[in-house]
Amino acid sequence: MCGISGIISNANIAKKLLDSIQNLEYRGYDSCGMAILNSHGPIIRKNIGHVADVAEKELFLSMNGNTGIAHTRWATHGGVTPVNAHPHANCDGSIAVVHNGIISNYVKLREMLTKKRHTFLSETDSEVIPHLIEEYRKGGMPLESAFVAALKDIEGSYAVAMVAYEKPWKIFCGKHESPLIIGLGKNENYIGSDFNAFIEFTKEAVVMDDGEYAIVSNEGYAVKKIVNGAPVLKKVMHVEWDAEMSKKGGFPHYMLKEIYEQPETVKKALSISDASIQMLAQNVVSAERTYLTGVGTTFYAAQLGQYYFASEAGINVPAVSSDEFLENSAMAKGDFVLAVSQSGETYDTLRVLREAKNRKIRTAAIVNVIGSTMARLVDDVVMQGSGPEICVISTKAALAQVIILIRTALEAGVITGKLRVSEKKQKIKQLEALPQQISDFLNEHSGFVHNLAERQAHHHNWLFLGRGKYYPIALEAALKVKEVAYLHAEGMPAGFLKHGTIALIDDNLRSLVFIPSEKEEALYKMTMSAVEEINARGGKVIGIHSSKTFAKSKLLADQLLLPPAPPLVMPLMALVASQLFSYFLATTLDRNVDKPRALAKSVTVA
Ligand code: M6R
Repeated sequence: MCGISGIISNANIAKKLLDSIQNLEYRGYDSCGMAILNSHGPIIRKNIGHVADVAEKELFLSMNGNTGIAHTRWATHGGVTPVNAHPHANCDGSIAVVHNGIISNYVKLREMLTKKRHTFLSETDSEVIPHLIEEYRKGGMPLESAFVAALKDIEGSYAVAMVAYEKPWKIFCGKHESPLIIGLGKNENYIGSDFNAFIEFTKEAVVMDDGEYAIVSNEGYAVKKIVNGAPVLKKVMHVEWDAEMSKKGGFPHYMLKEIYEQPETVKKALSISDASIQMLAQNVVSAERTYLTGVGTTFYAAQLGQYYFASEAGINVPAVSSDEFLENSAMAKGDFVLAVSQSGETYDTLRVLREAKNRKIRTAAIVNVIGSTMARLVDDVVMQGSGPEICVISTKAALAQVIILIRTALEAGVITGKLRVSEKKQKIKQLEALPQQISDFLNEHSGFVHNLAERQAHHHNWLFLGRGKYYPIALEAALKVKEVAYLHAEGMPAGFLKHGTIALIDDNLRSLVFIPSEKEEALYKMTMSAVEEINARGGKVIGIHSSKTFAKSKLLADQLLLPPAPPLVMPLMALVASQLFSYFLATTLDRNVDKPRALAKSVTVA
């Protein structure tokens, strides 16, 4: 996945176009480029590297013109090289195109175009698009029809934008299964993969649907259907997010800022209407079977949800990672699929939801990004309202998702009779106390977490262990460390250790164990067995726990003491602590925190 943007204006757009891809950089950042039309046609400048570096090297700000498109890339087809960077041009350089998605039939199209003497410069799938358009133009088709004909030829997923010498006051764009949004300004309009492309310039936007294309000028826009050119009347949305929310606000990294925003995101998740939560809970309880799904961090959020549905509602709601879902789960009519996704654009999760729709299965999603494909695809959507999450590493969005799942589990508990209304209310109070507890923890303990990370960052191999609700926390904490600190961390149920992995324990392997409070006696004892077993084999345990007495234990080589909290919310405190730990590991090791290597914010490919 990549970020695409475009601007058309009665003023020079170079600076704004650069800002727009800079704001989309979290979608992919191995290379980037801009094409701006001047009187000779599109001038393309592109290279490998982060946007700021390429902008400097390629003198983006010295470009000049009123119409342009830009791209920031996360390579799928073809290595990270300057020629593979977008925009791509046709043979005579009169057309420039940017593309996000994957063209599954590009090999066939490229062969056909090569036979017709088109010359390809890159290894990308995307480069077929400008050549296809050129081919149709050669046959005498007007530009708009040629653009649409090319879109009809390509299979797979795309959001495409084109500028052309012959129509200097237009940007042509179209989409299928990759997001594309039009921003509406004064005497200028924008396109982007998401709102961040133009959030600094306007809050009015039109979300394009699959199978639509648009012609955007500085004065207006027209959306039409790709299949027959029929005009489509679109609703203009007002975006609540503002540019300030997307800035670092004094924090050295977005990741830290977003960790510190969590008291606010929890409050937002708690302010979602009871009616929305009851609707989800009713669906969960009345379905034949309910599946929770998501992938990466959102799968772990869903998995944590599974534990809360078991403990609070007494029902089995399996969480299945969306990348494996269709192969291992037999969903059928009468079932309910509840997806979790920050971006609302993740291919694996969308694939599950699309198949569920085909099978006439009810779907819902907990999503952060307004207007995203998932938000519009499902029968019911709960917008989590966490605000823009810019760091590629998900933190605040994941916590908000868990809060929403816990609220749903509590509501389901009342419906199944597992919880009395008074018990539910008491537990909601515990959730309501969480923002303050997180705030206190961040303000008072972040120094300890920093010191712990500095002491431990030189260890390259880790086991992250937890039982019960602390198991998905261990998995998520390990993922964070892998993603942002590039250390090998394997998340595992603490009880699973003795069934094989224990053979790895030695003085070099660090085991980070999430230890529940003694109040959860059974869980505590079972977790402690693992701590003992590791110590017995000469391993070193780093404990994340909340017991002042246990803090003196010789079983811990190092530790992070959490403030006490009720068992319902304690795993969430541990989650926040582990986010902070991974952040400080990453800064100690001088990693690229907000844009870790090889990652991208939303993975829109298979
Ligand atoms: O946008 P989504 O929540 O659907 O994304 C799912 C995963 O790709 C995402 O959570 C990924 O694991 C992040 N890098 C986690 O930090």
